[in-house]
Amino acid sequence: MVQKTVYFIEGDGIGPEVWNAARPVLDKALEKAYSGEHGIEWKELPAGEKSFKDNGEYLPQSTIDTLAKASLAMKGPLATPVSGGFRSLNVTLRQVLDLYACIRPVRYFQGIESPLKRPDLVDMVVFRENTEDVYAGIEWAAGASEVQKLISFLREEMKVNVSENAAVGLKPVTKNGCQRLVRKAVQFAIDQKRPGVTLVHKGNIMKFTEGAFRTWGYELAESEFADVTISEEKAADNETRVIINDRIADAMFQEVLMRPEQYSVIATTNLNGDYLSDALAAQVGGLGLAPGVNMSDKLAFFEPTHGTAPTIAGKDMANPGSLILSGAMLLEHAGWGEAARLIHNAVEKVIAGKKVTVDLASQIQGANQVGCREFGELIGMNL
Ligand code: NAI
Repeated sequence: MVQKTVYFIEGDGIGPEVWNAARPVLDKALEKAYSGEHGIEWKELPAGEKSFKDNGEYLPQSTIDTLAKASLAMKGPLATPVSGGFRSLNVTLRQVLDLYACIRPVRYFQGIESPLKRPDLVDMVVFRENTEDVYAGIEWAAGASEVQKLISFLREEMKVNVSENAAVGLKPVTKNGCQRLVRKAVQFAIDQKRPGVTLVHKGNIMKFTEGAFRTWGYELAESEFADVTISEEKAADNETRVIINDRIADAMFQEVLMRPEQYSVIATTNLNGDYLSDALAAQVGGLGLAPGVNMSDKLAFFEPTHGTAPTIAGKDMANPGSLILSGAMLLEHAGWGEAARLIHNAVEKVIAGKKVTVDLASQIQGANQVGCREFGELIGMNL
């Protein structure tokens, strides 16, 4: 039997219940797809509130050390502890493990209410840079002594006119940071036989940061993928190579609404990616079925995009779909595409059958509400 180790963190709030619903689905999909010849060896790692109760630490060093050597891991949502010295456990994990690419596929499941006329045309995968940009949190409050120092330097040495009353944030963007993200997006498009990669940026205004993302993105495609990619201007009518193009971020928000069928893989900077991935999730009916992964060059760490949903935790009301679909991404990534396909088909069938958790029931006419556990069981039965 071929077994791969997957480290997992159950997570807080609804974490344990969505795990209990999701894990059997993943195991069963593998068993069904490969007649029991492939499987996952699950190894739990302590983190979050459960870990704090057991050993007084929210994020033990042993968990970080194990993940630093791992290649596959999965987690439920983690609450941000009020004490313990962490800005957020999630942000800490992303930083210490250098999980620089946040990848979120967005597709439509038939039957869910959507604000679009043709949500079925949406099938995109967003690659968002995860470590740089204004989002890195390097900023100073207006009036703080640090900001005054910085503003004096900018006004006197750099001769730029920044108001003395300003709050200031920095937007660091590096060539390496942009190119490793674009590399992942292009490689994904090639592996998955996707038609194109769109570089999304605000380079018309922020030329040396956002504009550089565009320039470095094209350069990377030309230098490392010359034989398998082609720019939009040079592409033939029935192009078989992956087409690389770029769009300015504000125009892209119109494009994904009006011409979603023209876009497939999106690579973008941190803040653009944050906005765009939530907007896209809304186009297909919300975050309830939105999976994701954060990746370094070594580790693929899969997680649902939602948080701990404290108000419904422990009530068997949570939708395990996002974690189940994150698991399907893991299976695909690990080379078990057939098992992933079974899960997608099963989720489609269950949603079409209109027996869904409360969050989806409110978006599907004539739906019957079921609990978290039953929803997971239904998906398992339809594999
Ligand atoms: P949230 O995603 O937990 O909840 C937002 C809304 O969506 C709530 O109404 C909630 O009930 C609902 N919801 C979320 N997941 C659901 C599911 N699977 N099924 C049904 N309904 C669901 O976001 P919020 O309230 O901002 O954050 C709560 C906690 O989660 C915070 O401590 C936050 O730091 C943490 N968080 C953790 C994340 C992670 O681990 N990656 C991501 C986002 C938030």
